[in-house]
Amino acid sequence: MLGRKLAARLAGEAELTLVDVADGADISEPGVAAEVVSARPDVIFHLAAVVSGEAEDDLEKGYRVNLDGMRLLLDAIRNAGDGYRPRVVFASSIAVFGPPVPEAIGDDLAPAPRTSYGTQKAMCELLLADYSRRGFLNGIAVRLPTICVRPGPPNRAASGFFSNIIREPLAGREAVLPVSEDVRHWFASPRAAVGFLVHAAESDVVGSLNMPGLSATVAEQIEALRRVAGDEAVALIRHEPDEAIARIVDGWPRRFDPRRALELGFRAESSFDEIIRVYLEDEQ
Ligand SMILES: NC(=O)c1ccc[n+]([C@@H]2O[C@H](COP(=O)([O-])OP(=O)(O)OC[C@H]3O[C@@H](n4cnc5c(N)ncnc54)[C@H](O)[C@@H]3O)[C@@H](O)[C@H]2O)c1
Repeated sequence: MLGRKLAARLAGEAELTLVDVADGADISEPGVAAEVVSARPDVIFHLAAVVSGEAEDDLEKGYRVNLDGMRLLLDAIRNAGDGYRPRVVFASSIAVFGPPVPEAIGDDLAPAPRTSYGTQKAMCELLLADYSRRGFLNGIAVRLPTICVRPGPPNRAASGFFSNIIREPLAGREAVLPVSEDVRHWFASPRAAVGFLVHAAESDVVGSLNMPGLSATVAEQIEALRRVAGDEAVALIRHEPDEAIARIVDGWPRRFDPRRALELGFRAESSFDEIIRVYLEDEQ
């Protein structure tokens, strides 16, 4: 999803090589990364991943794609030689933080993941930092908020309902809300996320950065939906509490204080109404 939008944003500005398992290029297969790197791109955006729900259900696949894929990519860059030293922008996640999290997470909180997905992202951040320190590349890991409203069919991310309860009612379809309305979380739109990735490529920061976003409760999401699409849309949200999902979501970050990224010029939305507006502008 983000890769497609990033490619659309960069098309015409840069020469692009797109790699995805959907086209038969599996980054966790030996040799694939070397092929990618052989064209010596100035910038490599690494977004390929198995998302949170799937990484939790399939331990082997999660580590193979999310961790081994990164390691193979970094070693392909290292082995290219001749002083090749690309900018690498890695899509990390706020899932590197696990419970107990403070009410607002500052820039200096160390990762302590509580899911396999978050663990894989945190390991990739460490690898990226070490390969940068060793001079093989200039890497930046951008810790993306939950991207909302996610277009297209629901995926296997555990956070999917945050998007489903907006996207489905806007299309006149029912959506299930598995948690209570007072759940608070950290969001940015796909458009903002693409902006983060492009800005990260252009900056010279090396390391991991918490990205800006919007802290909103599910109730605030629903009120924004009501303002945009009325009571009829809100009536399509079916409350079906799911203890397992509620337990997972309970340990998720609720708010960040991303001073460093803001100082560096990274920008996200400032209201959930704006996030819905971006979705309507970009998808409909
Ligand atoms: N969407 C979010 O809310 C969010 C939040 C934080 C971080 N991220 C991260 O941002 C990145 C992009 O997220 P997205 O929402 O676009 O996810 P997505 O699932 O839409 O895209 C991931 C892409 O990776 C590809 N892929 C999977 N395994 C691969 C492999 N072995 N080799 C090559 N390609 C492979 C998939 O085919 C898919 O096109 C991911 O790394 C994700 O972990 C996303």
